[in-house]
Amino acid sequence: MAVKREDLSCLEKFDEDSVLEVLRSRYANDDIYTNCGEIVLAVNPYKTLTVFDDENHEKYDWKRFEANMAPHIFNVAARAYQRIQEEKTNQVILVSGESGAGKTESTKLMVKHLVYMSPNRSDDLHNKIVQVNPLLEAFGNAQTIINDNSSRFAKYLELSFDERGQVIGATIRDYMLEKARVVTCNKDEGNFHIFYSLFAGASKQQLIGLNLSESKDYRIIKCGCLKLLEEKTKYREIYLQQMDALKRIGFDADDMNILHCMLGAIIHLTEVRFKEADKANEPLEIVNPDQVELAAELLNVDPLELCLSLIKTKTEYGGEQLYHLKNLEQARESCDALAKAIYERMFGWVIRRINEDLNPTKQRYETLSY
Ligand SMILES: Nc1ncnc2c1ncn2[C@@H]1O[C@H](COP(=O)(O)OP(=O)(O)O)[C@@H](O)[C@H]1O
Ligand SMILES: [Mg+2]
Repeated sequence: MAVKREDLSCLEKFDEDSVLEVLRSRYANDDIYTNCGEIVLAVNPYKTLTVFDDENHEKYDWKRFEANMAPHIFNVAARAYQRIQEEKTNQVILVSGESGAGKTESTKLMVKHLVYMSPNRSDDLHNKIVQVNPLLEAFGNAQTIINDNSSRFAKYLELSFDERGQVIGATIRDYMLEKARVVTCNKDEGNFHIFYSLFAGASKQQLIGLNLSESKDYRIIKCGCLKLLEEKTKYREIYLQQMDALKRIGFDADDMNILHCMLGAIIHLTEVRFKEADKANEPLEIVNPDQVELAAELLNVDPLELCLSLIKTKTEYGGEQLYHLKNLEQARESCDALAKAIYERMFGWVIRRINEDLNPTKQRYETLSY
């Protein structure tokens, strides 16, 4: 009976109650994994378990497969790896579940296991693949009500193997970044980690260079959970680690500066306030043009052009340029839209650079083909 309860497809009665009963009793015993045929169901343990140690990596190595092995996330990775090796076909592992279910952690564990099973597991590329997650998380994750470190984007990770089963490259594709979080977030949640990290970790000199003062003064920080501002040590740590990780993937001093300028520009742009003009048919007034100037300076664009683009819409008709005045709502929206677009581009840039770093051979090939 105990063996059968490891696989829901063997249950005599298969309905919601019996499935939940099995999952609950296994969970009470710290057995967080249960099979359902080929599928593995994972229940988030919310605590550190010992089942991810080297002993388990060894036990679930695809070469050591035994019948009736206890369900385990490593087993999913091992089965995919085995099929790559034996059938030489591409394999996909789909990880799904609601927010906070443990998808990101499970994916990291599977990548770690795939790396463990590779012939040369201490390869530099392997370390990079494992280390790249915190970087993605700093820019793409945020605190939500149910998850302190919730990924706010969907991710497709592609690993390439050579004939021997050695990982030779990895590509990350991101989808649906929740960029709206940059400008509006629930008061019990947080903006993307990187904003808190910037204020907690950047030097005074750097913050002065970006013309930033106290974090609590800014709308996009104030709109989220204020308690996060007290977690300075945690966010400082994230900042230092991520600056280090960026350097490792090849960001030089100029790139770092551009990245900081983009973050600074987003913060200043989202501070811009507009006011209706006294007379009808007059353009809106920008209450604090200094914020536009600071953003323009950081973005290296003309401040006047930026001001005009925030209060007017330009269209072309029959080769002629036409300008329409924006109303208050349109101006606020366009300011936020610009901030969101900058963040999205910045995130895309970081991912592109990560991919270049994780595909050393491809990069070399592309360079040679010039
Ligand atoms: N296997 C696990 N072991 C320990 N803690 C876990 C595990 N999976 C998830 N967690 C905890 O749950 C939190 C949310 O998991 P996460 O993978 O980020 O969820 P999702 O990606 O599904 O939103 C993690 O930050 C971690 O604290
Ligand atoms: Mg996630």
